[in-house]
Amino acid sequence: MNRISLSLDQSPALSVPVRFFLTAPLFGLAAAITLFQAGPTVLTSRWIPVLLGTTHLLVLGFIAMVMIGAVLQLLPVLAATPVKKPELVSTLLHVLLSSGVVLLGTGLTWGYQWPVKIALLLLSVTFLIFIVTVLTTLRHSPSVHASIKTMRFAVLALAVTVMLGVFLGAGHGWPNIALARQYTDLHLVWGLFGWVGLLTIGVAYQVVPMFQMTQEYPLLMQRWLTPLLLLLLLLWSWGQIGLPMYPALTWITGALLAIVFTCFGIWTLYLQIRRRRRVADITVWFWQLGMLSLLACVPLWAATMLSSYVAHIPQYSLVLGILMILGFAISVINGMLYKILPFLIWVHLQKRAYDRETRRQIPNVKKILSYEYMRWQFLLHLLALLLFLGAIWWPQSPMIYLAATCFALSCMMLWTNLLGGLHAYRSCVVQMEQKK
Ligand code: HEM
Repeated sequence: MNRISLSLDQSPALSVPVRFFLTAPLFGLAAAITLFQAGPTVLTSRWIPVLLGTTHLLVLGFIAMVMIGAVLQLLPVLAATPVKKPELVSTLLHVLLSSGVVLLGTGLTWGYQWPVKIALLLLSVTFLIFIVTVLTTLRHSPSVHASIKTMRFAVLALAVTVMLGVFLGAGHGWPNIALARQYTDLHLVWGLFGWVGLLTIGVAYQVVPMFQMTQEYPLLMQRWLTPLLLLLLLLWSWGQIGLPMYPALTWITGALLAIVFTCFGIWTLYLQIRRRRRVADITVWFWQLGMLSLLACVPLWAATMLSSYVAHIPQYSLVLGILMILGFAISVINGMLYKILPFLIWVHLQKRAYDRETRRQIPNVKKILSYEYMRWQFLLHLLALLLFLGAIWWPQSPMIYLAATCFALSCMMLWTNLLGGLHAYRSCVVQMEQKK
């Protein structure tokens, strides 16, 4: 199973993924401002309403936002089957998702019911359109590559997450519907380990060897890791809701899930350490931070499963959440954006070039974004992660203000860095037009 051949001619217009990429840091900024305003008490328990609202500004407004944009871009290129009416689909998804996230964030943060009700409607429609688009597009794909199979699994996991999320959201939106908190862990595990975890693995099979100049992931891993993960998630869920009297099932499948993610994290780090060209690369730093955060979750998760005393310490679940969302998912996404955006800009400029002279004007893919600025943004992101972890352990300290400030600066810098790339694209296009 060699690396998939890319059908770059199927690439949709640049605006299709870019609108999602540029919106995500703004939701990150909104999350940082909300946390800053809430102050130290916000990190004392996972059930604080502001934290539930902020979590969704990040998991939907940042993570899902970029992932949907990336899937709309990657789908035709990897699967060689175009999405029908990509501009219309992306505009619809972008508007629905953005407004749904604003309303869900507002409703959960301040406990208002009507924004939650409207958000549930908007988000259900968003994800229905997205999931149907991906599954129907993949159905016509001739490719049997592991990335394609994994994308299918990730979207199924998203469907489970959304259904559980809407069910839980109904408990917040309608006073006569009981809030089914016994499903919250199920919802977040399908969201973070299913949707985010599976999609990251699927994308990693493609982008780590291609953009980071590493060896391929082993064939055995590419073939079996994600089906195994999906099976374990199903068994774990069955243990949680179907057989709560046999905690051993949840325990064993939970441990196996942790082992599977450990294998992926360690193998990715191994490939990166042994990569062919060892020049400093910010993307690799982001991925390494992501993998280390993922690996750090494993002993913490094991501790919460082994001891009910540990499981009830509020800091443990908060540290796990910060490591998974900020440390793993947002780091990897950050790294991915810094490779995918310059590559797309370069591909679209190549398409526009009409002779050798204009082709020569196209900047090198490595020069499209400023290395210095990306490095600064990485440092801010790392600092924000460490400060958030510190703020959880010392909840009375003012560290949350520093953490939120660093995260706000990191999101703003990510946004300006991406805009810088688009500015380079515009200037190059203008120059080409002038020479016509
Ligand atoms: C339609 C989309 C979604 C809706 C309507 C939704 C709704 C909710 C609601 C209402 C809760 C609070 C449950 C409670 O009070 O017990 C919750 C918790 C949570 N959701 Fe979602 N969710 C959605 C998507 C997602 C996704 C895609 C992810 C992850 C990628 C996610 C991650 C989480 C996490 C981590 C929590 C727990 C927060 C905590 O324990 O502090 N959600 N969700």
